[in-house]
Amino acid sequence: MLRTAVVKTSRPAFRLGLVAPCLAASPPCLRSAFLVVGTSAAPAARHLSTSSARSNDDLTSRSAIHAATEKHKQDLPGSSSSATSLITKQSHTVHTIPDTIQGDWVLFHPVYSKDEMTSVEVLHRVPTTFSDSLAHWLVKTARTIFDWVVGYKHIETPPTPDMTIEQLRKAGYLLTEKQWLDRILFLESIAGVPGMVAATLRHLTSLRLMRRDKGWIHTCLEEAENERMHLMTFMHIRKPGMFFRLLVLGAQGVFYNLFFLVYTVSPRSAHRFVGYLEEEAVVTYTRCIHDLEAGKIPEWTDFPAPEIAIDYWRLQPNAKLLDVIYAVRSDETTHRFVNHTLANLNSDTDVNPFALREPDMHVKGKTLGFERSESEEYVKESREIIEKHAHEVQAEVKV
Ligand SMILES: [Fe+2]
Ligand SMILES: [Fe+2]
Repeated sequence: MLRTAVVKTSRPAFRLGLVAPCLAASPPCLRSAFLVVGTSAAPAARHLSTSSARSNDDLTSRSAIHAATEKHKQDLPGSSSSATSLITKQSHTVHTIPDTIQGDWVLFHPVYSKDEMTSVEVLHRVPTTFSDSLAHWLVKTARTIFDWVVGYKHIETPPTPDMTIEQLRKAGYLLTEKQWLDRILFLESIAGVPGMVAATLRHLTSLRLMRRDKGWIHTCLEEAENERMHLMTFMHIRKPGMFFRLLVLGAQGVFYNLFFLVYTVSPRSAHRFVGYLEEEAVVTYTRCIHDLEAGKIPEWTDFPAPEIAIDYWRLQPNAKLLDVIYAVRSDETTHRFVNHTLANLNSDTDVNPFALREPDMHVKGKTLGFERSESEEYVKESREIIEKHAHEVQAEVKV
């Protein structure tokens, strides 16, 4: 429950320590905390987490709550927004969320400082086993085929220095903004699958064997949601046509079932595969950032960030698309770190070290996950922090 009430940020102790101090603070805060722990009032939990996520008060104001609710209503089945009406084909609007409750039902908000967002490095974990090599080969092959199909031939420097952006695009050395969006939308629609499959299978295992999961389910669910939010963000910039949707449908059908089978047989290999997939995602977004900052995607210079992104990553109101892409890349870096770490663990016996907190981007951006012994050490540290907080809260309550 503690985990649900805190906001996931890249700042380590932040996820861990919000509820405990809150219990000893003001009455409204105390009330919210009890709601999180003792009732099914999920929206209140979201409200608590949101207000804790930002130091300014704007998100707790009634108007901001109303605005956020309105934004999220677009996701509701039956919403009449243009974005969803094509899919739901319902002719009426159903408003089931009271205006007084913030429609902020995501599992967490990743919040990064500027410094963290720029501390990400492109890294590669050298395969050490046959299954690692196979996973890496599969990812590399998929990327090569994908680039070939769309005619993209990335190069660091153009063949001749005087080539214009148009000429580079025509030759396949640069992507247009539409090509970037198609690529991102397709890949994000796939990227949201593994976390959900892993969470589903571990959930079912827990039910079947009637034993607790070791903290893996939530992290996997968070990854799935985080990837889906990437998709939702870019969907606000470009609405795909019917052909594109059919492609996604086919790819999802194949990939979901394949990944399900692989995870059933070898969770370790499945997480390693995702680790390599995320390495490529970091490469892709890094190239996008470089192109954008070099003025090679002129259509996106000063392009404003979609509102859904400003809300999700808690960006400044005047944030640009470039800020969004930096945030997305940081998320992919987290997935890279988490999945390579989980692939180093025993999925039957080991605790997920990220169940309660995660290292910040200075660690995740520059390393490729914990080895098993490092993970064990990290879990111990987390326990010590929790115990310390518990003692502090007890002491404050007594006073
Ligand atoms: Fe993603
Ligand atoms: Fe990812």
